[in-house]
Amino acid sequence: MFPDLLRDDVFRLETRRLWLRWPRAADTALIASLAGDRDVAERTANIPHPYPPGAAAEFVLKARAGNSGGGTLALGLAPRARPTELVGVISLNRRGDEPPNLGYWLGKPYWSQGLMSEAAQAFLAMVFSLTNLADIHACARQDNAPSLRVLAKCGFRPVGPGVEFAPARGGSVPVERFLLSRGQAANAEADTTGADLFPPHMQTA
Ligand SMILES: CC(C)(COP(=O)(O)OP(=O)(O)OC[C@H]1O[C@@H](n2cnc3c(N)ncnc32)[C@H](O)[C@@H]1OP(=O)(O)O)[C@@H](O)C(=O)NCCC(=O)NCCS
Repeated sequence: MFPDLLRDDVFRLETRRLWLRWPRAADTALIASLAGDRDVAERTANIPHPYPPGAAAEFVLKARAGNSGGGTLALGLAPRARPTELVGVISLNRRGDEPPNLGYWLGKPYWSQGLMSEAAQAFLAMVFSLTNLADIHACARQDNAPSLRVLAKCGFRPVGPGVEFAPARGGSVPVERFLLSRGQAANAEADTTGADLFPPHMQTA
């Protein structure tokens, strides 16, 4: 799915405040502490809570294997001034013949500063520019207002309710599903209000 440029850990993506780069073994303590926070883990499909010993190291190994194989892309977010300090993760995962799925989490101390919107917009623009993907899928629970807002600001459009397999939550959970098409992503940075992209019951601001 991804070209050679992304399949080598020298790859870096720079945004105004962040580096997006491959996760490394040295990130495991921060991943365990930040992703181990219940408020982070329980909003995701794949992060268990309580966070088991060894899960962060396993995540890093799997992410690096997936990145080098070219089937997935998982990047750690780090402040530009402190590139070794991982604050979150953004990823795109293959789903058979379906459009790949966007996932992300950010450590709680860094919430509500616009960091994930900044990271996701740059990540999506990069993915569309370096691949021939037509669409990207995402989903979020209807009560996850910050995530719905991030998706709106990236240009995602709602495609209706559904259920998503969430292994760390013990099974399938009801979600709102979204798609982002190539042309929409190109306009996302210019239009960051996003509110009118969602039906009234899903407008978060
Ligand atoms: C979702 C998440 C990544 C957002 O990261 P973030 O950097 O805080 O997001 P941003 O600051 O870029 O944007 C959040 C938006 O939600 C808004 N928001 C935050 N809390 C809100 C609330 N309770 N109700 C409505 N809007 C809210 C913010 O105001 C902001 O919108 P704005 O820029 O228009 O003001 C972060 O909350 C997180 O990691 N959550 C736990 C894991 C998770 O939910 N992952 C996604 C699973 S689908």
